Amino acid sequence: MVNHRGWSVMKTKSIYRKQSPRTIALYIFLLFAFSIFFFVFNAGNIEQQQINPISVQKTDEELWDPPSTRGLRPCAHPKRRYKGTRGSGRYLTVNCNGGLNQMRTGISDMVAVAHIMNATLVIPKLDKQSFWQDSSAFSDIFDELHFITTLQKDVRIVKQLPKELELVPRARKHFTSWSSMGYYKEMTQLWNEYQVIHVVKSDSRLANNDLPLDIQRLRCRAMYHALRFSPPIESLGKELVDRLRTQSGKYIALHLRYEKDMLAFTGCTSGLTDAESEELRIMRENTKHWKVKDINPTEQRKGGFCPLTPKEVGMFLRAIGYPPSTLIYVASGEIYGGDARLSELKSYFPNLVFKEKLATKEELNAFAKHATQSAALDYIVSLESDVFVPSYSGNMARAIEGHRRFLGHRKTISPDRKGLVKLFDELERGNIRTSSFSELVWQMHKNRKGAPRKRKGPSPGAKGKERFRTEESFYENPYHECICSPKGI
Ligand SMILES: *[C@@H]1O[C@H](CO)[C@@H](O)[C@H](O)[C@H]1NC(C)=O
Repeated sequence: MVNHRGWSVMKTKSIYRKQSPRTIALYIFLLFAFSIFFFVFNAGNIEQQQINPISVQKTDEELWDPPSTRGLRPCAHPKRRYKGTRGSGRYLTVNCNGGLNQMRTGISDMVAVAHIMNATLVIPKLDKQSFWQDSSAFSDIFDELHFITTLQKDVRIVKQLPKELELVPRARKHFTSWSSMGYYKEMTQLWNEYQVIHVVKSDSRLANNDLPLDIQRLRCRAMYHALRFSPPIESLGKELVDRLRTQSGKYIALHLRYEKDMLAFTGCTSGLTDAESEELRIMRENTKHWKVKDINPTEQRKGGFCPLTPKEVGMFLRAIGYPPSTLIYVASGEIYGGDARLSELKSYFPNLVFKEKLATKEELNAFAKHATQSAALDYIVSLESDVFVPSYSGNMARAIEGHRRFLGHRKTISPDRKGLVKLFDELERGNIRTSSFSELVWQMHKNRKGAPRKRKGPSPGAKGKERFRTEESFYENPYHECICSPKGI
């Protein structure tokens, strides 16, 4: 053993000793020549790889880990001086409008409004006329008792208006959108004449910013603590999350907002047939509360105002680096164009699951006719996912992104739609290679993964009312009011 080793060392030494510098130079040259030959020989294969759009390998941490919270934590508790209101004898009745998430934020705002106006809040009535045509009552969607008791130190909430007030005249109010604290203080004058104020619409009635900290915190208590879903929804939602976790440990929740109403409303027709585009145009024409009728789909898409198509979502996720084996839960209503429209997305990500596949028919029966309840299931599965990706920045995307920020900045990747469609088109025209496409997409989304940041202010140039409308929604990013530094405020 010892001998053998000694021999090899001696031999190595002797080889080196015998070589002249010229021979060494020759060796180096040969090695160099050989690598060039090897490179040229394989160039064909390298080219192949670039055409095949598989992105640069990303690590598990890069793909799945949440951004750093920098020690921030949720804080929805009131300040020391805060007092709840118990206003009795004055009632606020509310008609919610919109889909599940528009109603959720509307209800949370109405809790704050009832507090400001020192009124008793009557459990709101949910929208039955929207596109979603859902007959569900508040208690079908939310845990009513939990809602009332969680907020009992803040506002008095009752299930119904007292019998003796049912027939008294009410003040029917369309409260001004994005109103301030002062506006609602002024509205308390209505109590001189009325005992009941009826709020006709609940969406966006309260400003996002410049409200007292305690009002903002109350909105968070309502939204994140009090508005728990009803027990049947909560339990099936948790069950679906468990099933996904057993299947693969980690999953992406993809909110694929590719439903008929959204496409008709936004006027986006990319990838649709002429007949489909026409069907959507007619729907838009006939929907009274959609004010904009004449839309140029090309301009709309270029501006980043269209939801990504299922195909585009697939290209996006693979460019970011998610492997084909990734489990993707699709949170969505009925996809416009059905299964056929999902073929490209499915061909790269075969582990695409819908709740219809994850739950049994019996389990879903109770929810089948109730779009809002199905949306609530999607909400739970999306909230709990490792990564949340919305294809469009609608009410659901905003609400879930904000809730995930509140709970500890869980990872949410928000596609830069305007930037992406530009890249998709460049790729299509052959102006960029797939490998650089992936790199560009990765770079473009470096700072769009849900890390802590301040809420965005109004759009530059926006004036008057427009300023309030263009501010980032409070519920999309309740930082800093409801997300505190380790020391707290
Ligand atoms: C709220 O209303 C009640 C009567 O319902 C009244 O006693 C109380 O003083 C009011 N609180 C405030 C802050 O106005």
